[in-house]
Amino acid sequence: MVIFKLDLIYLRKLSMAIGDRLGLEYLDTTIHCSEDAKRIAKRRLPDIIFGFVEGGTGREVGMKDNMSAFDRIKLQPRVLQNIDQRIMGTNFLNQSFDIPFGIAPMGMCNIVHPFADRIMAKAAAKYKMPLGISTAASSLLEDVYKWAPESGWFQLYVLPPMEHAMSLVERAKNCGYKTLVLTVDTPQVSRRIRDLRSGFSVDFKIGLRQFIDFATHPVWSLRMLRAGRPEPANFPTDRAKFDRNASRALADWAFLEKLRDLWPNNLIVKGVTSFSDAQKIQKLGIDAIYVSNHGGRQLDSVPAAIDILPHIRRAVGPDYPLIMDSGVRSGEDILKAFVLGANLVMLGRPIMFALGAGGANGLNSLIEGLKYDLSTGMAQIGLKDISDAGPDNLAKTDMVLPYASPERLGLNG
Ligand SMILES: Cc1cc2nc3c(=O)[nH]c(=O)nc-3n(C[C@H](O)[C@H](O)[C@H](O)COP(=O)(O)O)c2cc1C
Repeated sequence: MVIFKLDLIYLRKLSMAIGDRLGLEYLDTTIHCSEDAKRIAKRRLPDIIFGFVEGGTGREVGMKDNMSAFDRIKLQPRVLQNIDQRIMGTNFLNQSFDIPFGIAPMGMCNIVHPFADRIMAKAAAKYKMPLGISTAASSLLEDVYKWAPESGWFQLYVLPPMEHAMSLVERAKNCGYKTLVLTVDTPQVSRRIRDLRSGFSVDFKIGLRQFIDFATHPVWSLRMLRAGRPEPANFPTDRAKFDRNASRALADWAFLEKLRDLWPNNLIVKGVTSFSDAQKIQKLGIDAIYVSNHGGRQLDSVPAAIDILPHIRRAVGPDYPLIMDSGVRSGEDILKAFVLGANLVMLGRPIMFALGAGGANGLNSLIEGLKYDLSTGMAQIGLKDISDAGPDNLAKTDMVLPYASPERLGLNG
C-alpha cells in the first residue's frame, strides 16, 4: 500500500515535470506565492538560466540571510480596530503609486521569457507600481518608457566607456524619465559559483551540457529560438559592447556630485548598507536612498538588508525617502520593511521566477497574492494606512521570556 502510494506521488511528479517541459500549462501552474513561482520556474527553465537568477555570490550565505532575517522579525497583532478600509497607495518623490511595492531593476530579464521586459512594464502600468529598468535590460530604454511612462525608473550602471554611460543618462532625460537610480554596490562584479559551474555568461557557448539542458526544456528553448537570443539592447554593438565583468568603479563620490548637477529630476542611489554612506549621500542632495545588498549577489558576508534598514532610518531621520529590497518574498515581508522604516519596497528574484513560470499570468498572480497578503497583514496588526507603519507594530517578543525583568515587562508602578 505504502509503495503504491509512493509510486503515485512519483508518477504525479514525473508527469508534472514532463508536462511542464512540454508546455502543458494546465499542470500545477497556479502561483499563490513566491515559493510557487520559484518551484514552477525551476521545472520550466533550463538549469543554467534558473541558476543564474536564483544564485548568490560565494557560499550564498548573504542571500539566504536576507530571507531568514525577515523570518526572525515578528509583527504585533492588535484587536478590535476598525480597519475595514485600508490604504496601500503611497506617494513617493511626487509620484503616486497604488501599491507600495515594485519591481527591482534587473538586467537580461528576457532570458526567462522572451517578452519579460514588456510584461513587467504592462504590469507596472496596470497596478500603478514602480518598475526599475536596468542598464542591462533586454529592451531599449525608450521602448520601456513608452510601455510604462508613469512607473518606469531608469537604473544606471557606470560601465566604461564613460561617454556611453553619460549617453544613457542623456537618453533617459530626453525620453522623459522622472527618476534615475544609480547602482553603486557593484564596483566589481563578483563570481557566482553556480554560473561558473553551469557555464553561464552573457554570450555563452553551447556545449554538450547546455545542449542537454535546453533539449530537456523544449518549451523555453522553442520560445527563445522563435524570439531570438536576448541581448543588452542599450549597448549599440558598434560603439559600446556590454562587458558584464568590467569595473563599475567609475561611479565614485565625484561622479555622484556631477550626476546630481546634471540630472534635474529624482535621483536615487541604490545599494547602500552603511549609515555613514547614507548620511553623506543625503547631504549631497540625493532625493532618496535604496537600501539593498543586491540580493546577496555581490558580497557574501554582507549584513541582511532588513537588519540594516532601521539603522539607516535612524541615520537619515524620519522623513527622508527610503526604498529597500533583498530577501522580500511575501506580503508580510513588505509590511515588515515598512514597519522598520521603508517608504517603498522592491522585489527581484520572485518577479523573474513568476515570469519564467507563467509569463504575464504568472506575474499578475504573484502581484495579486502579495497585495492580498499585505492587506490582510495590515488588518491583523490594526494598520489602516501603510504610511503609518512603524516600530509600534513590532512584537516585543523578548518580553515574554521568563527571565524578563519587571521593568522590561513594564510592570513597575
Ligand atoms: C537576475 C538579476 C539581475 C539583476 N540585475 C540588476 C541590475 O541590472 N541592476 C541592479 O541595480 N540590480 C540588479 N539586480 C539586483 C536587484 O535589483 C535587487 O537588488 C535584488 O534582486 C533584490 O534581492 P531579491 O532578489 O532577494 O529580491 C539583479 C538581480 C537579479 C536576480
